[in-house]
Amino acid sequence: MRAALSDLPLVLDRVSLRAGATAILDRVSLTLGPGAPTLVVGPNGSGKTSLLRICMGLTAPTEGTVRWGGRSETRPTRRAFLFQEPVMLRRSAAANIAYGLAQAGYPRERRAARVEELLDRVGLLDLAGRPARRLSGGEQQRLALARALAREPEILLLDEPTASLDPAATRHVEEIVLMAARSGTKIVMASHDLGQVRRLAGDVLFMVRGRLCEQADAADFFDRPTTPEAAAFIRGDLVL
Ligand SMILES: Nc1ncnc2c1ncn2[C@@H]1O[C@H](COP(=O)(O)OP(=O)(O)OP(=O)(O)O)[C@@H](O)[C@H]1O
Ligand SMILES: [Mg+2]
Repeated sequence: MRAALSDLPLVLDRVSLRAGATAILDRVSLTLGPGAPTLVVGPNGSGKTSLLRICMGLTAPTEGTVRWGGRSETRPTRRAFLFQEPVMLRRSAAANIAYGLAQAGYPRERRAARVEELLDRVGLLDLAGRPARRLSGGEQQRLALARALAREPEILLLDEPTASLDPAATRHVEEIVLMAARSGTKIVMASHDLGQVRRLAGDVLFMVRGRLCEQADAADFFDRPTTPEAAAFIRGDLVL
């Protein structure tokens, strides 16, 4: 199912996003290549979701350019987006994944086996026949992950996927994300949870008021933040 062309590196060049006089994103430049997960952190309203939407191609910047593997137009099938609150079809868990596969043009005769493999990967094989909307929040988020991974995305963008989950459900989602990362999917994930950032991140994008305030390896970000804003954020102080 993989197309021949890569979507990496993902390059943003002076990307701004404005709504009237408000700068939601302000001249953000960055390059994301393959490798360990990139975690997007920052206070509420700093532009994390907006940045992820631009990386997916869901939102176009008002200024600046986005390029995937050197191209400004690419098929979104190489990328997948996971929202904080997954939206499930009123069907079984298995049917939700099968639907995703059908949408992606996956051959009908191989769908059932692939659905099983994906449900197994996220620990939901026993719940295959359960109506998706009756699953718990954590189970629904794992199902959403299976659906996103069904397309074997090269880039998986996740917007605070564990924000409403308890610690055990959070760990379960993190394990699946790490497994995807190890099998070569580039993870770009927004998170409020600094513990989670420490557990998952290879590098960190730290946003403040729509600006990319700091971009660093995770260890450097935590041990040697170079801006007062990052230092305050890591201490748990209010960053305005
Ligand atoms: N379409 C829009 N029109 C006007 N303002 C917007 C729009 N989308 C986002 N904003 C504003 O841009 C800012 C950044 O929003 P965004 O959702 O990207 O932040 P965030 O870092 O994801 O926040 P949170 O941590 O609360 O999820 C916010 O002040 C938000 O109100
Ligand atoms: Mg957000």
